[in-house]
Amino acid sequence: MEASHIKIGILGAGFIGATLTRRLSEAGHQVKVANSRGPETIDPGMLVAGAVAVTADDVVVDVDVLITSIPFNRMPGIAPLVARTSPDTTIIDTSNYYPHRDGHIPAIDDGQVESVWVSEQLGRPIAKAWNAIPAESFAGKASSPGSPGRIAIPIAADRDGDRSVAMRLVEETGFDAVDAGEIADSWRQHPGAPTYCTDLTRDELRAALASAEKDRIPRRRDLSMAVVGERVSGDGGKGDGFGDWLVQLNRAIYL
Ligand SMILES: NC(=O)c1ccc[n+]([C@@H]2O[C@H](COP(=O)([O-])OP(=O)(O)OC[C@H]3O[C@@H](n4cnc5c(N)ncnc54)[C@H](OP(=O)(O)O)[C@@H]3O)[C@@H](O)[C@H]2O)c1
Repeated sequence: MEASHIKIGILGAGFIGATLTRRLSEAGHQVKVANSRGPETIDPGMLVAGAVAVTADDVVVDVDVLITSIPFNRMPGIAPLVARTSPDTTIIDTSNYYPHRDGHIPAIDDGQVESVWVSEQLGRPIAKAWNAIPAESFAGKASSPGSPGRIAIPIAADRDGDRSVAMRLVEETGFDAVDAGEIADSWRQHPGAPTYCTDLTRDELRAALASAEKDRIPRRRDLSMAVVGERVSGDGGKGDGFGDWLVQLNRAIYL
């Protein structure tokens, strides 16, 4: 992999995929992006820095890094696409499991770590990154290295090469990258954990990773989602300031 320039495929062009597409192409990488419906349906606003919209079949061709940014319960369905990438390709996944949205997945409800399940579904090692930042903070709160209060993002991975490229790309999207350990420990950065969508700095994030309590996570996740569900159903949408409100809610419940 060339040091300064990475060939990146992004599967998923929603809230997170769009910001990834724009930022990583602005950083000078060769980026292509796909959704499930076709390149003509991709918002051209995310392509302004040179990223290219392609089909899902094409997004996996000749890439150093494939970022998957689709709903959690769609992950098994993309296994045949992922299988077409080289075994050396770094797969970075952004997904999160929400039972109310994804349907209950028995293995996870019985305690399997979400990202271990994803890795098994894909049949490949993965890195986990950008899953623990709200879409609003990701789009609106990037800053330069060394900026006071710069928000940090946790990265879990099992292969050193995957970890180092994921950490580099997180930095290039405008956030401090914090090594959160192996995928088996990535429950520390999933919904319900103190690291999850709480917009912490590097030092705060390291402390939050260490303080996470696995047994309390599903109940805390479901508490937060119940409050979010009430807000969204109440006014027909998330409304202004949703991202900051979510961070405050999650800090109250998770920290
Ligand atoms: N929103 C957040 O605050 C946030 C924060 C961190 C992480 N995440 C996680 O990141 C993932 C993406 O979140 P999001 O909010 O960006 O979702 P989103 O706005 O709903 O976008 C999902 C994208 O995935 C695409 N997609 C779905 N199934 C696909 C398939 N089989 N093949 C190709 N593309 C497919 C959709 O394309 P079509 O529209 O064409 O189907 C769409 O572009 C989720 O797992 C989410 O839990 C979200």
